[in-house]
Amino acid sequence: MPHPDVLEKLVSLAKRRGFIFQSSEIYGGTGSVWDYGPLGVELKNNVKARWWNAMVRQRDDVEGLDAAILMHPRVWEASGHVAGFSDPLIDCKTCKARFRADKLQDAQCARKPSKKPGEHGDCQLTEPRQFNLMFKTFMGPVEDSAAAVYLRPETAQGIFVNFLNVQQATRQKVPFGIAQIGKAFRNEITPGNFTFRTREFEQMEMQFFVEPGTDMEWFEKWKAARREWHIGLGLDADRLQFHQHGEKELAHYARAAFDIEFDFGGTLGFQEIEGVHNRSDFDLKQHQEFSGKRLEYVDQAANKRYLPYVIETSVGADRVTLATLVNAYREETVEGEQEGRTVLRLHPALAPITAGVFPLTKKDGQPEMADRVAAELRKRFPVFYDDAGAIGRRYRRQDEAGTPFGITIDPDSTKNGDVTIRFRDDLRQIRVSAERAGDVIAAYVASDVATAEAGKAGTA
Ligand code: GAP
Repeated sequence: MPHPDVLEKLVSLAKRRGFIFQSSEIYGGTGSVWDYGPLGVELKNNVKARWWNAMVRQRDDVEGLDAAILMHPRVWEASGHVAGFSDPLIDCKTCKARFRADKLQDAQCARKPSKKPGEHGDCQLTEPRQFNLMFKTFMGPVEDSAAAVYLRPETAQGIFVNFLNVQQATRQKVPFGIAQIGKAFRNEITPGNFTFRTREFEQMEMQFFVEPGTDMEWFEKWKAARREWHIGLGLDADRLQFHQHGEKELAHYARAAFDIEFDFGGTLGFQEIEGVHNRSDFDLKQHQEFSGKRLEYVDQAANKRYLPYVIETSVGADRVTLATLVNAYREETVEGEQEGRTVLRLHPALAPITAGVFPLTKKDGQPEMADRVAAELRKRFPVFYDDAGAIGRRYRRQDEAGTPFGITIDPDSTKNGDVTIRFRDDLRQIRVSAERAGDVIAAYVASDVATAEAGKAGTA
């Protein structure tokens, strides 16, 4: 069965619960730029931390980097972006709208009645012309072409130009990689679908430098490893697929390329969330030529020097964060209750809040005990304390926020020193001593499950 389209509902939930807001909303908004609210920043930080952990901390053959957004303008000539990073554009001289020539069939004219570009009698469509997607600005006080710089359209080039710096500083031997997380900017002509395609976004990129001839072997290894990483985030395996780039799709730098696609549901369907590319020695060769600096790797043991080939894994932090939300969104009926619930079944390690703490009533020492429990848990993970309203409503609020565990303090708690842990996904409840609540939850988070039954974290 096809997955339903939940994007519109998510946009509304994201605003209501403080995941994602439209940028500069009080001024009418900025096109395709979004701000992450209190819950959203935690979720996206968790995604990024998980990537950094898997790609840098857990490996001794990948080093971290945080290169600047502004780079020497020659970088973008060498990389091919000045000449080739463009989309074909068609203007309508009548309504001033712009359309991508290659997406004209799917485009909609803004005027009413709703028609396709060219279908109104007075449409005046121009011939296609190339429009560069890089944002241009000026460095220093003078706004002339000599001072022009670009906001980087990908983080990868910061890695290529630092290849020898990192290799020499860390004494890494090929094969090894460099990874970084950072903002990238593209003046997209047809942005949209919430945070799927935006003009400002974050990439998590890794370039793995290998000896030519071993590149396809590494390409296959990284392809498999990256798919596993997405499954580890909780994305359903049947919503993930590879898409191999055909001759015409291949970027100017790529020898081989696969997209990892996620099924966003509805008409959007399967879309790229990550690219795995074999970039050959294209980038290092270009930078060597344009900078005049030798960028070869010296293999002392084998007494040879060469320009390494590069396997790149490039994933959008915002796109993956959106995928986790789409994957997690459910509208469910609850047995014995008239009102259903909206729940985000987020992976417990990604959830912005790990545990909600709820005194059943505001009397008999329950708030005091709940305060103490919350303060203890807060030392280990994000906690939300809520004593306002009926307990059912408080659970529902945390379900919508994706909080995997709820801890309730009731009249028996103050007598016996124990609490109830409620599981977001299967709604089961277990009773544990207040002191052990933190360990029990930590065990569930570490075991990557948020149900009382599945996984049997062992300590419950
Ligand atoms: N360095 C290679 C590179 O940038 P890409 O396929 O253009 O490759 C990689 O981008 C990833 O960056 C994409 O899979 C997507 O997740 C993310 N991305 C690219 N453009 C984006 C945009 N306009 N908005 C949000 N994410 C974007």
